[in-house]
Amino acid sequence: MRNITIDTLTDAVTGAMSTDIPDRNTQIMTALLRHLHGFCKDVNLTHAEWLNACEFLRRAGDISDEKRNEFILIADILGVEVLVDMLDHKVTDGESESTVLGPFYRENAPVLPNGASIIQKDFPGHEKVYVHGQVRDTRGDPLPHVTIDVWEDAPNGLYEQQDPEQPDYNLRGRFETTTDGRFAFVCLRPEPYPIPYDGAAGELLTYMGHHPWRPGHIHFLISVPGYQPLITQIYDADTKYLDSDSVFAVKESLIGQMQPSGRDGVDLEMEFDFVLKQMAQAAE
Ligand code: BEZ
Ligand code: FE
Repeated sequence: MRNITIDTLTDAVTGAMSTDIPDRNTQIMTALLRHLHGFCKDVNLTHAEWLNACEFLRRAGDISDEKRNEFILIADILGVEVLVDMLDHKVTDGESESTVLGPFYRENAPVLPNGASIIQKDFPGHEKVYVHGQVRDTRGDPLPHVTIDVWEDAPNGLYEQQDPEQPDYNLRGRFETTTDGRFAFVCLRPEPYPIPYDGAAGELLTYMGHHPWRPGHIHFLISVPGYQPLITQIYDADTKYLDSDSVFAVKESLIGQMQPSGRDGVDLEMEFDFVLKQMAQAAE
């Protein structure tokens, strides 16, 4: 392999891969190399720009740790997390649409009885919402004993792990559906918030001329044995940024209406049902 040129380089690199590696490795690396080399040629990438990109990735690595993965944020603002979710979770049987998990999920949220509040620290003057609904299968039958794991940001735009002023696991909870598939909990009306933009992801947003804001939403991770877990978010119909989400995750079917409520201790209520797909269907 000598005298490699612009025209023969891609074949030289793909051809250097061993034939003993798994087929999927070959498929992924061949396509990646074609697109990457094609991209460099398309934009006629300069040496200075390539070096800037390498330094940018180094800074993304430097700011990342077990609590913060800058590469997920970068993938989010490039639309890659939502694209992978669309590819991996195609709707086939009327099940609820999924969307991005995001970087703020924590396992082992407090297990709470149906109807309980996930608010551990009050934010005076901020509206409380009673969220309730039913989980069904794709035939319309209610699903009991489904785990409903929910989390949201506080009105200051921060998730509890970003904010030393909030108690551990504030605005997080796990609920279980009743025998007729019903769940309910009380939370705060979700507020728009900027994704963390003090690192490499923020630099990239500036480079692209885009803002960091996400519309107000509540996260759901809904799971029960035998069914495909559903990772999704419900958006407040009246929130800002529904049409300019910095991570492109809003879907019409995931927009919920909050109505004034006559219930004690809450201002609003929102009904939202979910449909889960059986594992066997998921594998088809
Ligand atoms: C979130 O919804 O929590 C989120 C999603 C993508 C990037 C940052 C945050
Ligand atoms: Fe979020």
